[in-house]
Amino acid sequence: MGYRIAVVGATGNVGREMLNILAEREFPVDEIVALASRKSQGTECSFGDKTLKTEDLDRFDFTGWDMALFAIGSEATKKYAPIAAKAGCVVIDNSSLYRYDPDIPLIVPEVNPDAIEGYAKKNIIANPNCSTAQMVVALKPLHDRATVKRVVVSTYQSVSGSGKEAIDELWNQTKGLYVPGQEVEPSVYPKQIAFNVIPHIDVFMEDGTTKEEWKMVAETKKIVDPKIKVTATCVRVPVFVGHSEAVNLEFEEPLDADEAREILRESPGILVVDKREDGGYVTPVECVGDFATFVSRIREDATIENGLNMWVVSDNLRKGAALNAVQIAELLGRRILKKG
Ligand SMILES: NC(=O)c1ccc[n+]([C@@H]2O[C@H](COP(=O)([O-])OP(=O)(O)OC[C@H]3O[C@@H](n4cnc5c(N)ncnc54)[C@H](OP(=O)(O)O)[C@@H]3O)[C@@H](O)[C@H]2O)c1
Repeated sequence: MGYRIAVVGATGNVGREMLNILAEREFPVDEIVALASRKSQGTECSFGDKTLKTEDLDRFDFTGWDMALFAIGSEATKKYAPIAAKAGCVVIDNSSLYRYDPDIPLIVPEVNPDAIEGYAKKNIIANPNCSTAQMVVALKPLHDRATVKRVVVSTYQSVSGSGKEAIDELWNQTKGLYVPGQEVEPSVYPKQIAFNVIPHIDVFMEDGTTKEEWKMVAETKKIVDPKIKVTATCVRVPVFVGHSEAVNLEFEEPLDADEAREILRESPGILVVDKREDGGYVTPVECVGDFATFVSRIREDATIENGLNMWVVSDNLRKGAALNAVQIAELLGRRILKKG
C-alpha cells in the first residue's frame, strides 16, 4: 500500500519539480493529484510517463489524503494549509509562512531528521529557504567535527528562485537588449537583471538587512545550532537555475582543508569537486537537475584563527525546494506513517 499525495502549486517551478522527483525516486504513490489555482484547471502536468490534469485547489477536499506538498506563495498557503492539516493530511510547505513557528519543525533530512517527531503538533512541516538548505547540508558535518562559531556568506542566486515570471523576465530582457524597440522594463525585479547583479532579495528590514538575509540567519540557527552566528549578503544574478554561495567559516577548533574535504566527501547529499586547476570546481549550469549539493574551492583562511572558505552550489529548485520536500515526505513515511 502506498500514499495518496497532493502536489499543491503543480503548475509552478517548484511544483513541477516535485512531480518529477516523486516519479524519479519512485515514491510509493497510490494516488496523486495536481492542484493549482482555478485558472489552471485542466492544465496538463507530467508525472513520470503519466499526464495529470490540474484540479482547482479551492474546491479540493483533503480528507483521506496522506500528504500535501505545498509550493504556492505564503498568502495562499495561509488560507489552504490549515484546511489540509485539519482534514488529517500532513502539509509539507515550501513557503516561508511557518518556518519560524516553534511548533512546526523546519527540516533538512541530512541535518536534523529527528525534528520530524514534532510534526503532529500542527500537522505541518516547513521546508527551508533555498539558500539556507544547501548551506546547512555543507555546514553540519563540519560543525559536528570542529564547531562552527561564525559564518560569513555571500550568495549568487538564480532567477528561478523568484518563480516562473522571473525566468521570463531574464529571458525577454536579455533578448530585448539586442533588438531595438523590444526593451523590457524591470517588473519582477527593482532593476535590470539581464547582464547585471542585484544586491537585494525579498523586502528590506529596519536594520538594513533584507528578509532573505535574515532568513539565512534564523533558519541556520533553527536547523543546525542556535549558537552559530551568521551574516549574509544575498545577491540575485542573471542565472536561470542554480544558487551559488561563497562561505567563510570560523571554527572553535582547528580544521584544515584536507580534513574538511574528507569529511564532506563522506557526508550525505554532498559531492566534492575540488581540483586546484582550471575548471576544477562546479558552476550553476552543471548542477541543474542534480540531487547533490556540490562543494568546491575548499581552502584555509589565514586571516582568522581556524578559518575555512568554500564554494557551495546546488539546484535551487531541487535541494532548495522540491527535492528537500520529497526527502521530508520519505522521512515522514519511513519513520511515522509507515506505508509503502
Ligand atoms: N523557486 C525556488 O527556488 C523556491 C525555493 C524555496 C521555496 N520556494 C517557495 O515555493 C513556492 C512556489 O514557488 P515557485 O517558484 O514554484 O512559484 P511559481 O513558479 O510562481 O508557481 C506558483 C504556483 O502556485 C500556484 N498558486 C499561486 N496562487 C495560488 C492560489 N491562490 N491558489 C492555488 N494555487 C496558487 C500557481 O498556480 P497557477 O499556475 O494556477 O497560478 C503555481 O502553481 C513559493 O512560496 C516560494 O517562495 C521557492
